[in-house]
Amino acid sequence: MRILIRKNNEAVGQSAAQLMSPFINRGATLGLATGSTPLSTYAELIRLNQDAEISFQQCQAFLLDEYVGISRTDPNSYYQTIRDTLTSHIDIADDRVFSPAGDHGDSFAAAQAYENQVSGAGVDIQILGIGANGHIGFNEPSSSLSGLTKVQALHPKTVADNARFFASENEVPTHAITQGLGTISRAKNILLLAVGESKAQAIAQAVEGPVSASCPASILQMHPAVTVIIDEAAASRLDNVEYYRHVEQANLNE
Ligand code: GLP
Repeated sequence: MRILIRKNNEAVGQSAAQLMSPFINRGATLGLATGSTPLSTYAELIRLNQDAEISFQQCQAFLLDEYVGISRTDPNSYYQTIRDTLTSHIDIADDRVFSPAGDHGDSFAAAQAYENQVSGAGVDIQILGIGANGHIGFNEPSSSLSGLTKVQALHPKTVADNARFFASENEVPTHAITQGLGTISRAKNILLLAVGESKAQAIAQAVEGPVSASCPASILQMHPAVTVIIDEAAASRLDNVEYYRHVEQANLNE
């Protein structure tokens, strides 16, 4: 794992966007995440696109997950969220942005269909946030470390954390369709982003803890091309911060 520690959220976004830019200009298949964490990255990608430094015209993009029971047109759907925060502001066609069908009558069939789509395309670079309990996508603790796209019952903490986007906690869906940890692990390159003290524990477990389904993000330790970009608050519980800084400064990363 390459671990880059940045001063603040904005600097995390700049580094992530910088790393993604060559992939975007090569027309890569992008894996996109929702949530507040990637917003600074998306803002920087939009700026680079508007300044004509990057173009998404040849790219296609796959979302990690979608709430069950919510249609694409619902403002709380992850499909709308990614449109609002990124894809409607850049030069990518709507029909090149894919997400699980949250409102499909048969969620299990929708999960299988999405697995086939994602694995058929092959993600070149996947951007990930992390839940406070270590989840990536919506793979909650106890998820199979090699699992494929599935229907996931959300942890009450995840429901509570995401209630801020809804009128009340009662309106937050209880299930989601999410790429599995095995699906995510097939991406050729992965960027894991985190900002803020509330993610410090999850980052410490993901980066320095044992590989365990108790912290689903820890599976990334098994992946050959992961870059973790975090701010100082999210890095605050890591034991080896000085070493990670040294490696970056000495440009010793593999
Ligand atoms: C949701 C999403 C994840 C995201 C996580 C953290 O559960 N499914 O992909 O990483 O929230 O969100 P935030 O970045 O807002 O803290």
